[in-house]
Amino acid sequence: MCRLAVLISNKGTGTNFQAIIDGVESGKIQADLVAVIADTSEALGLERARKHKLPVKIVPEKEELLEVLKKLNVGYICLAGWKQIIVSEVIDTFPDKILNLHPGLIPDSLEGIVRNPDKSLGLWNKGKLADLAIQNFLDNKSSYAGSSVHFLTHEFDFGPVLGRCFEKIRKGDTVESLYKRLKVKENKLYVEVLAKLTRSVILSAPPRSGKYPWGEAKDLKTILIIDGGGRGAALVDKYAQSPKVGKILAVPGNDLMQINTQKQVITYPHLKTTSVKEIIEICQKEKVDLVDVAQDNAVAVGLVDELLKKKITVVGPTKKAGQIEWDKAWARKFMQKYQVPNPKYQIFKSEKAGIEFAKKNPNNKWFVKAAGLAEGKGVIPAANLDETTAAIKEMERFGLAGKTYLLEEWLMGEEFSAFAVCDGDNFQIVGYAQDHKRVNDGDKGPNTGGMGCVSNPMVISKIKDQISKIFKKTINGLKKENRFYEGVLYLGGIVVDGKVFIIEFNARWGDPEAEVILPSIQTDYLDIAEKVVQTKLDKLKIKVDTKIRISIAGAAKGYPGDYSKVRDKQILGLDKAIKQEGITIYGAGIKKSNNKYLVNGGRIFHLVAEGKDILEAREKAYQAMRLINIKGDNLHYRKDIGWRDIERVKS
Ligand code: AMP
Ligand code: GLY
Repeated sequence: MCRLAVLISNKGTGTNFQAIIDGVESGKIQADLVAVIADTSEALGLERARKHKLPVKIVPEKEELLEVLKKLNVGYICLAGWKQIIVSEVIDTFPDKILNLHPGLIPDSLEGIVRNPDKSLGLWNKGKLADLAIQNFLDNKSSYAGSSVHFLTHEFDFGPVLGRCFEKIRKGDTVESLYKRLKVKENKLYVEVLAKLTRSVILSAPPRSGKYPWGEAKDLKTILIIDGGGRGAALVDKYAQSPKVGKILAVPGNDLMQINTQKQVITYPHLKTTSVKEIIEICQKEKVDLVDVAQDNAVAVGLVDELLKKKITVVGPTKKAGQIEWDKAWARKFMQKYQVPNPKYQIFKSEKAGIEFAKKNPNNKWFVKAAGLAEGKGVIPAANLDETTAAIKEMERFGLAGKTYLLEEWLMGEEFSAFAVCDGDNFQIVGYAQDHKRVNDGDKGPNTGGMGCVSNPMVISKIKDQISKIFKKTINGLKKENRFYEGVLYLGGIVVDGKVFIIEFNARWGDPEAEVILPSIQTDYLDIAEKVVQTKLDKLKIKVDTKIRISIAGAAKGYPGDYSKVRDKQILGLDKAIKQEGITIYGAGIKKSNNKYLVNGGRIFHLVAEGKDILEAREKAYQAMRLINIKGDNLHYRKDIGWRDIERVKS
């Protein structure tokens, strides 16, 4: 059991002290209150201590405190209205052990900021105590007051923040009325923080060949996400929402990842998702508790396998399991073997063989596909023999990825995607989406990484059973092939006359699909990850909400072609857009320099709006989108995301 000491003096009202006592007595805080230390026998709280039969110590001199605390062998020290200075030696002896509550919103770093729930700037109140701090909220006409629980450091009113609470300021509020309401929140917060700190999360070693030693973790988890785009940003958010997560790292990450969370996000812009050696070093140095491999190239180079070798806990498919994405020829043969509905296809290893085949079938329309990963560019539609021949000749451009290629029957129908979380044995479908791959309105122009999507597209309603059967066959098939699939499996399908065919499987979340599905997940995402690595997903029902979300990609004019003229140009209006109700922005090809956001990639950000239905979500999304631009009018985005469902609801 963790040993706690509470330090009080004759200041304050003692409500925090009482909250801690109640928390311990109710078992919410799993600790023994081994000492109540006061600097004077006049301290108001001593009466409470006696009433609850708690051991009391009077320590009038600040220099004596260290010895007393050392002897008590305490795990955590809670300041609750303590007014003496804590001398340096005490801070040095108990790093990350002394908790304090400050009536202000302490940022995660000295130069950082905190946002209020309405996204306005929160006030730190550095150097301001009690009533003066509350007065400061009123003087500054802040929309919210707030407090932070933090570990004590040598820096005044600063240190690792363990939690924050907010209280909306009302018209006519006085220091007294506001503080009274804030205190209720503070008391709760202090107890919650202590409950978290003292709870030892004992996670049993998982069965998949016993490779996942979570061990006994007493502290908050550090998560590393492998991705740099909007998908990675949505994952950062989702993990950050778990009360068990402390900080989040992202390789390479992007400069907008910090914007939606109060928790610390560290990015590594100089690395790639395939920088295996450096990623392992980060895991070791930062004591990463869990890695989420979310990007295709990382899966294909076997990052998961390398992390497993180092006994690092990781969510994501191994290279063998991920072959379902990185080798389209293997994937088609696999699907055929396990009776997953494929379009007709042929695999070729030479230009000549493919062209000969095409000539024998001159009236067919094909999709010509490089078997390997080609940054989303390896798929070429070919509507006649000339186009087919030209597309086959293009395959050479993709190097190794195009050495083997496929001709696939061009299917006509409505596309969708479905996502399942898998633990190698069990799976749960967590969401559906409809991407818009073409760059221009009306599904015209070249294919892109995805220009926007909607969650829960209506086309799904009649095909859920088929989708579920396909996932089952696929995951069981992979199991039979000894390729236990762990992580998120992406099913890209097309509905032809009511029947689902597979366009592709991907070994990861989609991007921008992750941005509309992850926010709908209501279950603690770390719990989900934990169940995945333990092969215990059957023990957890993943909950999702019923809102409709729409995501719109903000792209640089020229994308997916050459957009170099737009690179480094300033993005305007993000701050305003992000403040709109129901809007979240996930960064992608974006960087921050001198407090300005600059273009750093083709798809710059993904703006997500939520609503009760598609119409509300779309209205909100485009209202916010219109607030954003790139200097010189260089922003491109599609104006018709969700058009299929909108036509359906209007008809
Ligand atoms: P992929 O890179 O496999 O996601 O393919 C890109 C896009 O090409 C898909 O989203 C579909 O729109 C289209 N596509 C690929 N294969 C086929 C197919 N056999 N029939 C129809 N459309 C396809
Ligand atoms: N949005 C398509 C993909 O992630 O592959």
